[in-house]
Amino acid sequence: MDITRLARGLSVESMEIGLNWSLRVAWIAGIFPLLVASLPSSRLNPLYELLLGFSKRGKIMQSSSYKLSVPQRFFLHFYLLGVAWTTVLLLTTWYYASQVAPLGSESLSLSTAAGHLTGLSHISSLYKSRIHTADKRYKVWVSVFLLLLMEMQVLRRLYETLYVFKYSNSARMHIFGYLMGIFYYTAAPLSLCTSFVLVALNFTLDKLAVLKLAYQGVPSMEFDWWGYLRPLANLGWHQWAGAALFAWGWVHQWRCHAILGSLRKCREQSDEYVIPRGDWFEIVSSPHYLAEIVVYLGLLVASGGTDFTIWLLLGFVVANLAFAAAETHRWYLHKFEDYPSNRRVIFPFVY
Ligand SMILES: NC(=O)c1ccc[n+]([C@@H]2O[C@H](COP(=O)([O-])OP(=O)(O)OC[C@H]3O[C@@H](n4cnc5c(N)ncnc54)[C@H](OP(=O)(O)O)[C@@H]3O)[C@@H](O)[C@H]2O)c1
Repeated sequence: MDITRLARGLSVESMEIGLNWSLRVAWIAGIFPLLVASLPSSRLNPLYELLLGFSKRGKIMQSSSYKLSVPQRFFLHFYLLGVAWTTVLLLTTWYYASQVAPLGSESLSLSTAAGHLTGLSHISSLYKSRIHTADKRYKVWVSVFLLLLMEMQVLRRLYETLYVFKYSNSARMHIFGYLMGIFYYTAAPLSLCTSFVLVALNFTLDKLAVLKLAYQGVPSMEFDWWGYLRPLANLGWHQWAGAALFAWGWVHQWRCHAILGSLRKCREQSDEYVIPRGDWFEIVSSPHYLAEIVVYLGLLVASGGTDFTIWLLLGFVVANLAFAAAETHRWYLHKFEDYPSNRRVIFPFVY
């Protein structure tokens, strides 16, 4: 039984390495064409037009390109998926961390009625032996922290999609952009916990199997909430500096989305466009994209900056949103003669 579990553990570890590299390749495959298409060369125009066709949505998508498109309100699917998937990853990683990755000298194990069963503590010891260094235990808790921040982001985006934005019935997005969004909200939360996600899922399944055998049903659990939260309070300055940056972007994106949502009184006016004013709209044309970049920069800082996959995730967000912001800025300049000339595309005073 132990040897089988150990062998499964080893194969899970090699699957985790495979997952990590697949995500890296996927982010690079997303970033590279966007960077190349943005180079100032007329020979790259066909690539630029192709990517623009894929990324256009809402106001910058003309009705002539509605072929192969879906309603823009399908953005809701991204956030339903994002919330469900991030919640699964968060709960699994948090449970795993609390059981096998104590920070400092204290034991963080759950105080459950079932916690003292030999089978359960045996599984914990087996998994504990795999993350024996303090550095590895710390990193598990950093992943929990990053997933908590991500959860806050996707929950707010879900709320805004339902109650703040007034997507018109005619607003569309390309089917490729839609599939990209589905991929994005699967891969982005995964990128925050690649080093532990499979082993955490494996661990939770093992625990559930033993619990099922012992109780032939769902056991009653007593949760030690403080035991779950205390390790998070013990994280380092990187995590708190990153969380502060994340909160700054989060609040400004919230405000900018509220401004965009208030521009139309009702869906019937949904073909009406006006110049947004207030908050970061005074300095750039797409402040909600800028705020999203600050949010992901916060995640990178909170991660400690040592995980290349999270760097690539941020790289994709910057490349994707800067590309879309350039087209939005052009659209504003073309649409409104009195568009404020001091507004930059996305990065204040720079671009
Ligand atoms: N992480 C990523 O890679 C990623 C990718 C995509 C989006 N996002 C995030 O998702 C959020 C929403 O993105 P989005 O591209 O859907 O935003 P958007 O195109 O600016 O649209 C948001 C809503 O505001 C409306 N709107 C925009 N400008 C308006 C104006 N001047 N007057 C009246 N209404 C206006 C839009 O109407 P129309 O639909 O009619 O234009 C839409 O209903 C952003 O904060 C972005 O950061 C993230």
